[in-house]
Amino acid sequence: MIKVSAPGKLMLFGEHAVVHGRPSIVTAVNHRMGVKVEKRNDDKIVLEAPDVDVHFKTIRLEDLNREKFDKGSCFVIAAIKEFFKKYGVESGLHIETKSEFSSKIGFGSSSAVTVSMIKALSELFGIKMKEREIFDLSYKVVLDVQGVGSGFDVAAATYGGTLFFVTGGKIIDRINIDKIPLIVGYTGIKADTPTMVRYVEEKKRKYPDLVEPLFNLHERIVLSARECLEEKDFEKLGEMMNFSHGLSVAAGVSSRELEKLIYAARLNGAYGAKLSGAGGGDCMIAVSAIEKEKSVIKSIEKVGGIIIPVETNVEGVRVENV
Ligand code: MEV
Repeated sequence: MIKVSAPGKLMLFGEHAVVHGRPSIVTAVNHRMGVKVEKRNDDKIVLEAPDVDVHFKTIRLEDLNREKFDKGSCFVIAAIKEFFKKYGVESGLHIETKSEFSSKIGFGSSSAVTVSMIKALSELFGIKMKEREIFDLSYKVVLDVQGVGSGFDVAAATYGGTLFFVTGGKIIDRINIDKIPLIVGYTGIKADTPTMVRYVEEKKRKYPDLVEPLFNLHERIVLSARECLEEKDFEKLGEMMNFSHGLSVAAGVSSRELEKLIYAARLNGAYGAKLSGAGGGDCMIAVSAIEKEKSVIKSIEKVGGIIIPVETNVEGVRVENV
């Protein structure tokens, strides 16, 4: 039996613009998704994924390419299908998935489970895969299932750390930094990334002269934020967050709930705050001076936000002891 885990992620800068060829910064967080996989002696794939309400779902190998799979199991099944196809292998499997975070929070459960499955299968079948190969195959799976996405979440799950990432993995650069003192507030509202991505695409189609410059500014902010991270200039990093968030507001992807949390943080001592990810709900992030952290956290909670303690820059996909 092989046990593998991969981290969730938080987008720090460059959301949406990264879908359109610009760079972004993403960090891997210490909330992990785990899979346990073993071979079976028959032709069945059995999946237990209690976190997403999948209980002993059973598929015959010959039906792998035929069935349409539900939300809870589609990434796992698509990962198996692609892996078998690429390496010309096949076996019945028993799979269990377990997440340390809810799939409702935008921590990237789909990409983390996909990367974990690909890594677990490579171990199980004794096929050596470099990080880049794991990224490429996992990104293909996520794109096939989801239809849209830059792949930044797949990169975070694969490589870990904090990454400078350009669309589709054109550049995946590790940024050499210490932990980032991030405060993360969850709005309690699940957002659907593909819907938000399509919303911004539509805006771009309708108003290219307005949206392209927003993406260009995102790029400038990403470059500046990278320097702030490398120099540990968290005060300026906060200002970059405020600039970045302003662009997301202009693109129409913030929400009343996000604004409530973001303004609570800003008005109570944060250097800066912004939405993280696709918008429309999910999480906001803030940075502040250490002595202000408590008041920022309290203020976010006071307006209904749920604080999620995170450690940043954590290790990418890895094999765990069973
Ligand atoms: C979603 O968390 C971030 C987006 O940029 C989508 C993506 O990069 O795949 C909106």
